[in-house]
Amino acid sequence: MATLNLNVNGRARRVEVPAEESLLSVLRNRLGLTGTKYGCGEGQCGACTVLLDGRVARSCRIQAAEAAGRPITTIEGLARNGRLHPVQTAFLESEAFQCGFCTPGMIVSAVALLEKNVDPSDEEIASGLTNICRCCTYPRISGAVKAAAKAMHGGRKS
Ligand code: FES
Ligand code: FES
Repeated sequence: MATLNLNVNGRARRVEVPAEESLLSVLRNRLGLTGTKYGCGEGQCGACTVLLDGRVARSCRIQAAEAAGRPITTIEGLARNGRLHPVQTAFLESEAFQCGFCTPGMIVSAVALLEKNVDPSDEEIASGLTNICRCCTYPRISGAVKAAAKAMHGGRKS
């Protein structure tokens, strides 16, 4: 067992876990942050996406020990002062989901994408969001990302 000091959504969290336990397991099963989903467990689907040091990370493929002391942001940590993140609002208003299983990871990935690219094209969204939506709501997801970009940065300048 290892005692880990994690920084999750701006809060210090101490957990005692087997050394090999995944970050996803710690988030969901020990800290109750169930917005982060288990999909494939193989780093492919993106359902488990969180931000680690501000960059997207597949939490199913990272040992919690690797994330100790580094800022971790989950879907639960995106809202500020009781207000949803603009990407969350855009997904809601665009109804960019069907079953919703991929949505937390998709939103976290979109937040990271818009940090790097304030005005992404459809192609850049398709290549930047590698998460899988088994309901194939990609057109509405792309629309939501562009709506969020517009809300946050004014949208495409063309
Ligand atoms: S559950 Fe982690 S990438 Fe699919
Ligand atoms: S909305 Fe069902 S997996 Fe994406």
